[in-house]
Amino acid sequence: MKYKELIDKMTLEEKASLMSGKDFWQTQDIQRLGINSIFLADGPHGIRKQAEAADHLGLNESLPATCFPTAATLANSWNEQLAETIGDYLGREAVAQKVNVLLGPGINMKRNPLAGRNFEYFSEDPYLAGKLAAGMIRGIQAHGISACVKHFAVNNQEERRMVIDTIVDERTLREIYLTAFEIAVKEGETKSVMSAYNMLNGVHTNENNHIMRDILRDEWDFQGVVVTDWGGSNDRVAGLIAGNELEMPGTAGETNREIIEAIKNGTIKEELLDEAVDRMLDLIFTTEEVYAKPYKQEFDMEEHHSVAQKAAEESIVLLKNEDQILPLKKGVKAAVIGEFAEKSRYQGAGSSIVNPTKLDHALAGFEESGITMIGYEPGYERYGKPSKSKIAKAVELAGQAEVVLLYMGLDEVTEAEGLDRQNAMIPQNQIDLLDALYRVNPNIVVVLSCGSVVEMPWIDKVKGLLHAYLSGQAGAKAVLRILSGETNPSGKLAESYPIRYEDTPSYRYFPGKEVSVEYREGLFIGYRYFDTADVNVRFPFGYGLSYTTFEYSGIEIGQDGVSFTLTNTGDRDGMEIAQLYVGCQSDSIFRPAKELKGFVKVFLRAGEQQRVTIAFDDKTFRYFNVKTNKWEVEEANYSVMIGASVSDIRLEGTLFVEGTGAPLPYNKEQLPAYYSGKTNYVEIGEFEALLGRKVPVSTWDRTRPLGYNDTIAQCQYAKGGLARLAFRLLSFAYWFLRKTGKRDTANLIMMSVYHMPFRGVSRMTGGMISMPMLDGILMIVNGHFFKGARHFMKERKKLARSTTGKK
Ligand code: BGC
Repeated sequence: MKYKELIDKMTLEEKASLMSGKDFWQTQDIQRLGINSIFLADGPHGIRKQAEAADHLGLNESLPATCFPTAATLANSWNEQLAETIGDYLGREAVAQKVNVLLGPGINMKRNPLAGRNFEYFSEDPYLAGKLAAGMIRGIQAHGISACVKHFAVNNQEERRMVIDTIVDERTLREIYLTAFEIAVKEGETKSVMSAYNMLNGVHTNENNHIMRDILRDEWDFQGVVVTDWGGSNDRVAGLIAGNELEMPGTAGETNREIIEAIKNGTIKEELLDEAVDRMLDLIFTTEEVYAKPYKQEFDMEEHHSVAQKAAEESIVLLKNEDQILPLKKGVKAAVIGEFAEKSRYQGAGSSIVNPTKLDHALAGFEESGITMIGYEPGYERYGKPSKSKIAKAVELAGQAEVVLLYMGLDEVTEAEGLDRQNAMIPQNQIDLLDALYRVNPNIVVVLSCGSVVEMPWIDKVKGLLHAYLSGQAGAKAVLRILSGETNPSGKLAESYPIRYEDTPSYRYFPGKEVSVEYREGLFIGYRYFDTADVNVRFPFGYGLSYTTFEYSGIEIGQDGVSFTLTNTGDRDGMEIAQLYVGCQSDSIFRPAKELKGFVKVFLRAGEQQRVTIAFDDKTFRYFNVKTNKWEVEEANYSVMIGASVSDIRLEGTLFVEGTGAPLPYNKEQLPAYYSGKTNYVEIGEFEALLGRKVPVSTWDRTRPLGYNDTIAQCQYAKGGLARLAFRLLSFAYWFLRKTGKRDTANLIMMSVYHMPFRGVSRMTGGMISMPMLDGILMIVNGHFFKGARHFMKERKKLARSTTGKK
């Protein structure tokens, strides 16, 4: 142990006190031993340091900080170096605000387009997400502070997010849901990891020895600290056993006492606590070093704003460009339509929300952009209300223009932490507007702003489509530069766009509504499914256009990597993202037809050419064998493919690779859907064959009393009349708020109350409601009103006595 001497001086109480927060954002200090508090703050695309009232839902304002493009946007840059630069700038701001641990990046896989936090995550591909995250972590940690990669792991839906049990087979877990974390830990060397809210195969992730001990600590050799997600701790002692050092937020010492008790009664050894304390001390001491010397307490807001703009320019994706409508010809008369042009849509809601230092809006930037704007009309109500008069005015303007620039997308209330989206459509009032505009002017360019996949049944009505995603506080300017041709677009999609949401492989198994969610589609998420099962998509993974063209030639495949020549064959300078995909030609073990194993982004002047190499690494040919319980390589011929997207392979060759000689893991006859890749419908029996065990019952047992891990929503079938009434009132409030247009407040009910397990009532109230008091509440919920009320009052008095020290 690094800090043994210091730990020897600590009392048991002092050691335990480091295992949970002092308040909502800070760790406990022990002044007599020179141990200070450190500060943890969100988040992934900008600092959210709350100076006053604290919350984990982004309700109370935070200090101004640069709002960089969200992860879903930045991922389209496919630029690890750019991610590192953003990390560097995040790090500078974190230091200026005296933050020790920055709670990001978030790297969960985009299993389903409707998952509420997709805008905060990078990709549906673990390799791409892992590489970008590693870059960002290096950038942040270069400042001496800690990044905190989250949410570990398999946290892919918001519905019942604190209790849902994800049922996933071991190979899918390793290859899809853990690989990005593996890269973040090994290559990014993150100093801390945030465990997820959900359960994994029956155990809370924070208590899950398999991922927390066997994999994170033993296999990946992670030496840092595991922090719970806010309120995510279930059984504190089980968490500690699994290697969770820090519970957040604080519980006024209640859970520290549980740890002390467990040591006293022999459930755990004190050495286990000492090891956790040692790692906590390392986090505290190493991340406060930067503040011991003079450090920059300010940052150059203008410089940071322009870095945010550069990042947006590299991340925006040109999806359609019929008749080369873009870039806009000089002097062409443009009608600007859509409220998002006036008031940018640039980030999502929830704990990642940033209070930007400034905010660009398109409308204010037209003059400088050189685009000739003949007028502006909002065209629609931001939050979906139909408006004939707004459409009429917009149509009138469009009729006078040579080109229509239509700003559309999702509103900020639709893309929020804590809530999955209900469908993949953009609001009907915007589609009605587009239809009406098309009738008077077919030269339409859409600028789309949203952080997750949407259906585009309207695409034939537009000639140009620029996907701005959620491009941060400087995104509006970045869009204008691309429209005007000042910047050549170079982003490519980091996720697939299905034609219809129903085409998504997890469509039938998302979200889990009651006890669990079954990942029956297995490995085949995103392009791994569409490409293998031959399902047409609107836009494939890795797709994006440029104002120039690129040619690929001269492939050479060696044992260590693949080389080829890229030529810019157009008349503009530009950047191309070339992608390496690998597919195994043997069919003994089922696999996706192609998997991303490398990528490179190259800048080429018009007419220039360059020889590029993508090296193979330990992930190029591996698969996880469930028989040997290890990564193995199958001896076979492999297709090595270089593509401009997953569906646009430009160069291809074959390489024979020696294997590790592991026994074949599967019985092919039992797994027909997996061997065909068509896993959008998998019978339960086949899923069980893959899992190697029975699938647990996925629905609630409505006859048993409600407990700590049941949610407030489950009060609907509680024995206690009061609980059922409370549920009805809650549902009414939700319905009423939505009806009256207060969707954000309605969402808040969903996020912070409806899906909250009872244990959260105690864990999130900073010690105001103890677990024994919660027992009283549960008695009331379960129909024992008087007994419960008495118990509650008795425990409340006890708590008051223990905090005031009175007998
Ligand atoms: C989110 C985390 C966030 C934390 C603190 C939680 O609700 O899931 O991503 O870092 O709150 O705000």
